[in-house]
Amino acid sequence: MKTYFVTGGAGFIGSNFVLHILNTYPDVRIVNVDKLTYAGNLENLASVLDDERHIFIQADICDRTAMAQAIDAYKPDFVVNFAAESHVDRSIVDPGIFCQTNVAGTQTLLDVCRDAWKTSSGYGDHKFLQVSTDEVYGSLPEDDKSVLFREDTPLAPRSPYSASKASADLFVKAYHETYGMPVNITRCSNNYGPFQFPEKLIPLMFHNACNHVKLPVYGDGMNIRDWLYVEDHCRAIDLVLNEAPVGEVYNIGGHNERTNIHIVEQVIQYVHNNIDTTVDASLIEHVTDRLGHDRRYGIDPTKIGRDLGWQPETPFEVGIIKTLDWYRTHQAWIDNVTSGQYQSYYERMYKNREVLS
Ligand code: NAD
Ligand code: TYD
Repeated sequence: MKTYFVTGGAGFIGSNFVLHILNTYPDVRIVNVDKLTYAGNLENLASVLDDERHIFIQADICDRTAMAQAIDAYKPDFVVNFAAESHVDRSIVDPGIFCQTNVAGTQTLLDVCRDAWKTSSGYGDHKFLQVSTDEVYGSLPEDDKSVLFREDTPLAPRSPYSASKASADLFVKAYHETYGMPVNITRCSNNYGPFQFPEKLIPLMFHNACNHVKLPVYGDGMNIRDWLYVEDHCRAIDLVLNEAPVGEVYNIGGHNERTNIHIVEQVIQYVHNNIDTTVDASLIEHVTDRLGHDRRYGIDPTKIGRDLGWQPETPFEVGIIKTLDWYRTHQAWIDNVTSGQYQSYYERMYKNREVLS
């Protein structure tokens, strides 16, 4: 029986990963460590909170004592580090916490794992997997679609968020080179699916549209993101954990580049067709652009396909409907996460954005 030590498992991708693993393997144990920041939500895990294969610990990955105790108590085979501050807009307003959690937190976990795992004969079958992002590669030109992020593309982060993720990747790589730590790094493109906090594009636009609130599109709306259904990302991470040689980096993506305005139009069309026929494109409002806004992301996933046989399984047209169906039928989940602090967050981020003509 394998024990997975998952950090950030109450967030969007982490909770999808926990559910994926518990649904895939009957004989498995998950130790789920999450600080429960604004982005962490135990409601995401409601279906497994009574499952004895799932152990939840509320703790901060920067807390070395708590991490060492948990690793010592449960002796995991794998550590999968999802825990992070993950929103670019927040990183522009307050970069410090990104440095703390994403860099110092990762380094703390690496240290604790090294101390717990290293013996005179090496690290056995343990593995540390860092869940990274395509944003560490910076921004691509929009006029040449043949240029994609490859694993050997130089790191060139441009936002405080991506700088912190790139720094964490460098620490992970350094622990592999220096101490022989068995690590992998995965760099995935934008995920979409159930349980995504409505500070991110798709659930934010859905929530606004349902409530007849303007849809704030940054700049000209022609920035491009490469969208992957979250379940496909979770499968890829598990494959890398179980099959990949240590030390390797894998890009994960599904060749699905879309402009932001296209995504927003899809959301409007869904809400118009399924919820409220009065919702239409007149809700779109182009607003002041994000500072340093990366123009285009595009992943080349050749390596993970060739070496591990991974392929995305959910076409965007299917995944987006599944996702929006989920939000439509989980209104209580949306209500809970948008009550309280969310309102003041929204005001802080959007009130002073100028509307572009
Ligand atoms: P999220 O913000 O939804 O969830 C982050 C989780 O980490 C939350 O549950 C939060 O409570 C927890 N957390 C934050 N600080 C912590 C700390 N100090 N100690 C313990 N737990 C802490 O993020 P997400 O979108 O699920 O992203 C998960 C990971 O995947 C991140 O590392 C992110 O960089 C990476 N990633 C995300 C995307 C995407 O599109 N969302 C794409 C590629 C990579
Ligand atoms: P986001 O979901 O924040 O992900 P990331 O910045 O990590 O790619 O944003 C996706 C794209 O949508 C990005 O180009 C910024 C844009 N965006 C808007 O235009 N308006 C919004 O209100 C938000 C949250 C994002």
